[in-house]
Order: sequence, then structure tokens, then C-alpha cells
Amino acid sequence: MEIRYYEEKPDIETYYELRTSVGWDNFCIEQAQKALDKRDFFILAKDGEKAVGMGSVVDDGMYFTIVDVTVRPEYQGMNIGANIVNRLVELIEKAAPKGARLSIQLIAAKGKEGFYIKQGFGALPDENCGPALRKLIYT
Ligand SMILES: CC(C)(COP(=O)(O)OP(=O)(O)OC[C@H]1O[C@@H](n2cnc3c(N)ncnc32)[C@H](O)[C@@H]1OP(=O)(O)O)[C@@H](O)C(=O)NCCC(=O)NCCS
Repeated sequence: MEIRYYEEKPDIETYYELRTSVGWDNFCIEQAQKALDKRDFFILAKDGEKAVGMGSVVDDGMYFTIVDVTVRPEYQGMNIGANIVNRLVELIEKAAPKGARLSIQLIAAKGKEGFYIKQGFGALPDENCGPALRKLIYT
């Protein structure tokens, strides 16, 4: 088996299917399509033609949020997730102007913070920042 990595946006079916494969609920079609249209950075991991993992970034050029990092359960533990995250970070860095300060952040799923710490992320709170906060709204 050879896993290849592409700077490719998943189509909506693949996007939904990869999220479903890890037990995540899907956003409604209007949200999902808009999100895919707006994002700049994607990595899609494939085994042949089959999409087996993905990740993407929501950003404004200063703040970068890594989202939707998923690896199909039967492909987990093969370094695919690490490759996806590290390639996303590389793409962000490559696109940055000289002298930039890049804040790359994410909300780890429960129990997954160790995975991101291995890729060089620091957990909050730290000496400068408090904990991350969020408000969820359902309409
Ligand atoms: C989290 C996820 C993306 C990791 O992908 P993966 O391909 O299975 O992980 P990798 O094989 O690339 O692991 C890389 C390293 O992180 C470690 N690791 C993986 N999951 C970990 C965890 N939950 N806690 C601590 N370390 C972890 C691995 O042991 C490996 O360590 P090594 O470099 O010392 O060998 C994958 O398990 C997944 O899709 N889970 C379900 C969806 C999810 O929770 N995504 C994260 C959203 S925030």
C-alpha cells in the first residue's frame, strides 16, 4: 500500500464520508459547501483512488485554524494524520510573506491533544494564554 498526499479539495461526498468514517456528525450542505469553497489549504491522503484522510485550514493570513483532520479508522496509526498536519503547516509557512507571525491553532478532539503535541503544538493554557473558549449555537 502506498499513501500519496495531494493538495486537493475533497468533493462534498468525500468530505462527508471521511467525517462519517470517524463518527462525526456532518454540517448541513449549505455550510459544508461554503466552507469547502472558502478554504485555501487542503491535504487529501489517498490509497490509490480511495481517499483515506484529509485536513484543511481556515485562515485570514494571520490566524490559521486546522480543521477536519480525519483518517479512516482502518488507516489510523500509519503516520497519515501526522503527514496531513505537517503538510498543512508547510503550506501555511510557504504562503507566508517574510517577517510574518503565524498563529496556527486548533481544537483537539477529546483525547487527541497528544497527537498534536507530537507534531509540535503546545497545549493551552500556557504561560501567556488562558484556555481556549468557544460558544456553539444550533439554528
Ligand atoms: C487523530 C488522528 C487524525 C490521528 O491520525 P493517525 O494517522 O491515526 O495518527 P499517526 O499515525 O499519524 O500518529 C502520529 C503520532 O501521534 C501518536 N498519536 C496518535 N493518536 C494519538 C493520541 N490520541 N494521543 C497521543 N498520541 C497519539 C501516534 O502514536 C504517533 O506517534 P509516533 O510519532 O511516536 O509514532 C486519527 O486518529 C483520527 O482521524 N481520529 C478520529 C478523528 C479525530 O479525532 N481527528 C482529530 C480532530 S482534532
